[in-house]
Amino acid sequence: MKFMTVKTYDELSFKGASVIAAQVIQKPNCVLGLATGSSPVGIYQNLAKWNREGILDFSEVKSVNLDEYFGLDGSHPQSYRYFMQDNLFNHINILPENTHVPSGCAEDVSKAADYDDLIEGLGGIDIQLLGIGLDGHIGFNEPADHFVGPTHLVDLHPSTIEANARFFNSADEVPRQAVTMGMVSIMRARKILIVANGEKKKEILLRACYGPIIPEVPASILQLHPDVTVIFSEE
Ligand code: F6R
Repeated sequence: MKFMTVKTYDELSFKGASVIAAQVIQKPNCVLGLATGSSPVGIYQNLAKWNREGILDFSEVKSVNLDEYFGLDGSHPQSYRYFMQDNLFNHINILPENTHVPSGCAEDVSKAADYDDLIEGLGGIDIQLLGIGLDGHIGFNEPADHFVGPTHLVDLHPSTIEANARFFNSADEVPRQAVTMGMVSIMRARKILIVANGEKKKEILLRACYGPIIPEVPASILQLHPDVTVIFSEE
């Protein structure tokens, strides 16, 4: 693991965006694995800016997102599809048909694992961007007694519901379940970039990077991946 500590969120966003930009420049038809949440917002702002300035071209890029709330369709303002449109896709020249977010619709849940075939069919993920939850989750792979491989439906941990309540009117409105990419597609990504900002993430990040590899700390599985870059900002 390459562990980078920076001072500010702006630095994290610049460095993180630079790692993704390097991937897009080196392989214009790459597959980007993307995340939502607050941590990657600044990265997406830089990518959109560099696209506007003609430095980055997304016309051949494909994307696959990590997760989606169960029961929210893409037009719901708190859905992760909506988040991606709003924070990135509407601001870059990626083709809509090249962007993929797991379906949170009830009728699609039994076919959740088809998402892994879709990723495989695209040639696999070149770089996967991850945040980390306060409980150590990546995607919505919550602490459990085993690691789950395929894309699947998961019950959200109470601490995740509480942490994500800031995006809703109240914790009651946060969906209790989500569809998430499992560990197989994440671990098959050729590169992984994990970003975390703020003191409150420090302890879990250190446990994930240097503690025992256990499903109770889902992100600890990343220690087994050969190419992980961690960017942590202290701010
Ligand atoms: C989002 C996701 C989650 C977040 C994590 C951290 O697609 O998969 O694992 O990355 O909950 O969220 P923030 O960045 O809001 O602290």
